[in-house]
Amino acid sequence: MAVSIKSAREIEFMREAGRILASVHEELGKALKPGMSTLDIDRLGEKLIRSYGCIPSFKNYNGYPASICVSVNDEVVHGIPNKHRILHEGDIVSLDAGVIYHGYHSDAARTHAIGSITPEAEKLIRVTRESFFEGIKYAKAGNHLNDISSAIQAYAESFGYGVVRDLVGHGIGTHLHEDPEVPNFSQKRKGIKLVPGMTLAVEPMINAGRPDVAWMDDDWTVVTDDGSLSAHYENTILITEGEPEILSL
Ligand code: MF3
Ligand code: CO
Repeated sequence: MAVSIKSAREIEFMREAGRILASVHEELGKALKPGMSTLDIDRLGEKLIRSYGCIPSFKNYNGYPASICVSVNDEVVHGIPNKHRILHEGDIVSLDAGVIYHGYHSDAARTHAIGSITPEAEKLIRVTRESFFEGIKYAKAGNHLNDISSAIQAYAESFGYGVVRDLVGHGIGTHLHEDPEVPNFSQKRKGIKLVPGMTLAVEPMINAGRPDVAWMDDDWTVVTDDGSLSAHYENTILITEGEPEILSL
């Protein structure tokens, strides 16, 4: 599939999809507290998304059963909300969500602390977020995709962290997942040249330990192989001639 270049009109819809998703994340972040179940988060998230007149992108996507991916501690991504999975003080929780607004998708993820967490966990969350911003320094017309990927990897690895290889970011638009793939690690080739109007979901998934991951029996939940903590930070961005526009912040 060719990489789509969005028109001015499409960009307006993408902006609104991103703006709404940013609000959903903000409200979810404020609602988090010990004692909540991961299903409580999903229910609130779906309600918020629909209150903005949007559709949760993830619901029923390839059979995914919920609106928000809720991944706790050593869970990397795609955790399935469950009423028996209770959040405790000291946990870290990654929330990944997407909305569809007038047929256009946005996709974003944040990792939050539940109450007070260890300094190591704080640092992992911070560095994961920072690795996204290191990567998008290179997200401008004329640069290549691999410039983003290698900057994310170099930054995260400079802290001794493991950059997940088995999952990647992606183009986004009328579909949740479009070309190109956006890896968080360096490729041997430069990848496509970036052009204004491309919209990308850039999403570093960073493990405190080794990069290796495994899938749980539910066939969705991705966990670190070594049991180390993992964090996720994602935004939908728009490529321009200059600085990228972060649509979901
Ligand atoms: N942000 C996630 C991704 O790009 C979307 C989760 S897909 C779902 O992989 F199926 F789990 F919803
Ligand atoms: Co994504």
